[in-house]
Amino acid sequence: MSTLQEIQELDSAHVMHCFARLPVCFVRGEGARLWDTEGKEYLDFLAGIAVCALGHCHPRVTEAIREQAGRLVHTSNLYYNAEQARLAQLLGELSGGYKAFFGNSGAEANEGAIKLARKWGKLNRGPECVTIFTALNSFHGRTLLTVSATGQEKVKKNFDPLMPGFVHVPLNDLAALEAAVDENTLAVMLELVQGESGIHPCDPEYVKAVRRLCDERKMLLILDEVQCGLGRTGAFFAWQRYGVTPDIFTLAKPIANGVPMGVVMARPGVAEAFQPGDHGSTFGGTHLACAAATAVLETMRDERLPERAEEMGRYFMGRLNALREKHAKIKEVRGLGLMVGMELQVPEAKAVMLRCLENGLVINATGDTVLRFLPPLIVTRDEIDRAVEILDDSL
Ligand SMILES: Cc1ncc(COP(=O)(O)O)c(C=O)c1O
Repeated sequence: MSTLQEIQELDSAHVMHCFARLPVCFVRGEGARLWDTEGKEYLDFLAGIAVCALGHCHPRVTEAIREQAGRLVHTSNLYYNAEQARLAQLLGELSGGYKAFFGNSGAEANEGAIKLARKWGKLNRGPECVTIFTALNSFHGRTLLTVSATGQEKVKKNFDPLMPGFVHVPLNDLAALEAAVDENTLAVMLELVQGESGIHPCDPEYVKAVRRLCDERKMLLILDEVQCGLGRTGAFFAWQRYGVTPDIFTLAKPIANGVPMGVVMARPGVAEAFQPGDHGSTFGGTHLACAAATAVLETMRDERLPERAEEMGRYFMGRLNALREKHAKIKEVRGLGLMVGMELQVPEAKAVMLRCLENGLVINATGDTVLRFLPPLIVTRDEIDRAVEILDDSL
């Protein structure tokens, strides 16, 4: 096997430098554990980035991938696909009747959602009705349309001209939204818990009021559940926790535990706006990805992993809050289920994250002051205790 240094040299010479890589290369994973090229073991409290929700190499998913890879990986979406149809049925059961379109990533799912909303708008609201409101500090992806939708300047910088049709409003500020909405407003698009910008949950009353506003003004509510969806917040879909139903929502990261997949989910009445020829994807919903995703969703359902995320999230946040008594630099612990952020008083998030990595704990720093924790939903109390111990030392 290559050494870390050899891999670093290859990567540096041949891969575009889009990521400021950390000095570790993982080569094996099992559950919440990872091992690097030197054989060092880590506790993974990032799970990809909210991707490997069942932990690394979950036996049910591995078996489903093996079995499907030996039978049929891909056929064109020009033909029926049994694995895709069954997965859509399962997603429909879990969501209460939403219909699915399959792509390959979160950004692609959000692109599909925006295209679907625009087409619905043309059919139901008129040609000028195109504006979509998204939140400041939101993150919806890295393609040009989703960069345009994202409410963060640092993501947009140097990529103009961007796509028109998006307006950003402060999160949890109903008055600002109400003041900005007009007859050409098509939709409001939100993450119920903002992930990339540092774990900022929406206020439940705000979300209910946005739903009411959308109903009154015949606007669509689009929820980006790419990061917060599929069990992480303590319900299969975060909107179930919030007690609102979206018109369209998107899924990606954890849906196939690491096999690429993104999904647009739309309620009846909206889903039909897409007709043959309107949208598509060569790789969307392959037999392989759908077999993996079905194994993920069935495991989540059978093992009641959303409930587990709620229980373990409460335990984890309790342990993190207890650390505040010892470390004055901790300002706040916030989150929902196993989507957890720790805000520091000082801009030391990256330094703490690096020290955790050295000490065998994988976490993430979003910005200068926030540590982000996205452990797999199968995480145990013992693993949480160990992670808190390492974090305590690292702080
Ligand atoms: C809320 C949200 N939406 C969209 C995306 C983009 O997903 P992808 O990287 O799979 O395109 C992300 C990725 O972090 C995300 O967190």
